[in-house]
Amino acid sequence: RIARRIDRPVVLVGMMGVGKTTVGRKLAAMLDVPFVDADEEIERAAQMPIPEIFAAYGEPHFRSGERRVIARLLGHENPDAPRKRKVLATGGGAFVDPDTRALILDKAISVWLDSDIDTLVERVGRKDNRPLLRGGNPREILTRLREERRPFYQQAAIHITSGNQPHTVTAGRILKAID
Ligand code: S3P
Repeated sequence: RIARRIDRPVVLVGMMGVGKTTVGRKLAAMLDVPFVDADEEIERAAQMPIPEIFAAYGEPHFRSGERRVIARLLGHENPDAPRKRKVLATGGGAFVDPDTRALILDKAISVWLDSDIDTLVERVGRKDNRPLLRGGNPREILTRLREERRPFYQQAAIHITSGNQPHTVTAGRILKAID
């Protein structure tokens, strides 16, 4: 087992379907640090699934909850309390929010995971838990969002393009890049 000396959280950003959660879990195991999924923490805090948060309160409300949860996970209020060594997967829109992005850039090693649209479309097709894809053509929505979000994702410290290679391979490439 490789235990590299990362001293800041590693935060994965990028589009829905790119594999942030699965890759994040594998990377955390390789680094021997805890893995945290921001979407899961938001659902826990709100005691509600994400599609219901969107439906009941709208996206701006979701974004402010997301901002608070990520701030807590990155130890914004109390820098000493949360463990610094961790891998955090964020929802696809988190890094687009100016405050959340500034916080991540300040506190963490940010990693943008990207892949081609075909891979994203195939991967989001496996689950129906993404409010932003409801009632539309997933390929069109993903293509548009990816273009809109690119200028923000590009601000991440590390860029990894994954295609549809196995998630373990992607995790290994991140490991090399942050080392
Ligand atoms: C979103 C992505 C989702 C989730 C929410 C909004 C987005 O997370 O946070 O549905 O704006 O791209 P994943 O990227 O994990 O699917």
